[in-house]
Amino acid sequence: MDIMKILVIGAGYVGLTSAVVMANCGYDTTLLEIDSNKLKLLKSGKPHFHEAGIRELLRKSIKSKCLLITDDEQRAIKSADIIFCCVGTPDNPDGSSNLTYVFNVAASVTKYAKTKIIFVQKSTVPVGTGRIINIGFKKSRQRISYVSNPEFLREGTAIQDSLAFDRVVVGSDDKAAAKSIINIYKKIEGNRQEIFNLTGLEQAAHVVESEYITTDLSSAELIKVSANAFLALKISFANSIAKLADQSGANVSDVMDAVGADKRIGRSFLNAGRGYGGGCFPKDVSGLISSAADHGVDMPILVAATEVNESMPGYIASRIQDNLNGLEGKKVAVLGLAFKSGTSDARKSPGVKLANLLHKAGALVKAYDPYANQEASGDLHSEIEILQSLEDALHGIDAVVVATDWPEFLNIDLVRLSKIMFGKLFFDAMNSFDYSKVRAVGLQYMGVGRG
Ligand code: UGA
Repeated sequence: MDIMKILVIGAGYVGLTSAVVMANCGYDTTLLEIDSNKLKLLKSGKPHFHEAGIRELLRKSIKSKCLLITDDEQRAIKSADIIFCCVGTPDNPDGSSNLTYVFNVAASVTKYAKTKIIFVQKSTVPVGTGRIINIGFKKSRQRISYVSNPEFLREGTAIQDSLAFDRVVVGSDDKAAAKSIINIYKKIEGNRQEIFNLTGLEQAAHVVESEYITTDLSSAELIKVSANAFLALKISFANSIAKLADQSGANVSDVMDAVGADKRIGRSFLNAGRGYGGGCFPKDVSGLISSAADHGVDMPILVAATEVNESMPGYIASRIQDNLNGLEGKKVAVLGLAFKSGTSDARKSPGVKLANLLHKAGALVKAYDPYANQEASGDLHSEIEILQSLEDALHGIDAVVVATDWPEFLNIDLVRLSKIMFGKLFFDAMNSFDYSKVRAVGLQYMGVGRG
């Protein structure tokens, strides 16, 4: 089985991570990427985004010749036994999923693939997409088996999640094809420690018992978007309670610790703050609302979750404005432009939205992120100053806002901060700091829902 050739189409977070993990597991892997800038970087062993451990695995797999990186679509598809489709499914202006890349890949596969191959859909697609593509595959001469295998990795911990996964979901009407895909993950599971050792990353302290779930095509598709939508709901729920906590003097962190201690609920994804961003939750929630509407089903619960999420940067900006008695001419530093720590991704970043809102209200905004400055620059208002060091961002400011929990920010020298700041306001938009420590150096602490 191991001499089979695997092709991964698309070198984004999912595609590149999957390709380097499978290549380091010994699979003969090809990665197809048509963007010439990304291709050039990848071929020289440099990932085009920041993700811990990925550079090491990329270099190792190129060196061992287990990974070939190419833009030759026809040749790559022709020689593949299993094709993983990992292209983007961005949102259209109306919130629905843009499936152009997915359908283009399916058309190329039908055109060039050899007979009896397995096509694995990893891109996040609305329920029913696989059925449409599969009708075309079934009519084609090559007998292509379609398998839906949604991805659950998180940016920032992509390698850890791909090695120590808690579940693998495989949906198909072809049992043998589904089994072949499960076998790939079983092999990764078996080689987990060895691959971890190559990255220099620490393995998750607990040994993950991976669960293998087989189901039908449509259910697999719906599992993926439902999981993301539910996590988004949890965050918006916590943020709604946080607003009430602000009005009533309660502390949302204590509330969620106790609510989440109920095993039926769980503590994760109940951290209130500036809301969720990134290339997944916002578009997956709007895509689910839109695809449900196509089936005549309303999703008011998800509409509300979106509204709460979109209100958070504005909510924080107005609390800062009230505290400073207006923002006109006030110097505010926004720390964290990535949508979360561990990544250079600034798509739909709450930190960027917050910086733009503060600027719009008249503040002189300085922004800094250890990895995402460049990616964020296109979305930040041109008058916002992007700084190259934390120290530069903090001198002489009236207020600081921490919008992403990078370790560099969490370990900030608070005594020094209190000396180089002009004003006193420390706004913790991630609720990540111990407020007694912030207050101890004479700064004024504000969080989201922390009384
Ligand atoms: C998310 C899912 O967690 C992955 O399982 C999924 O595979 C991925 O989307 C995807 O569909 O590709 P990701 O967007 O990389 O992963 O990052 P998360 O860790 O889920 O964070 C999403 C956003 O929610 C971030 O902005 C984060 O700061 C925010 N968040 C998270 C909160 O505001 N509060 C929380 O309690 C947790």
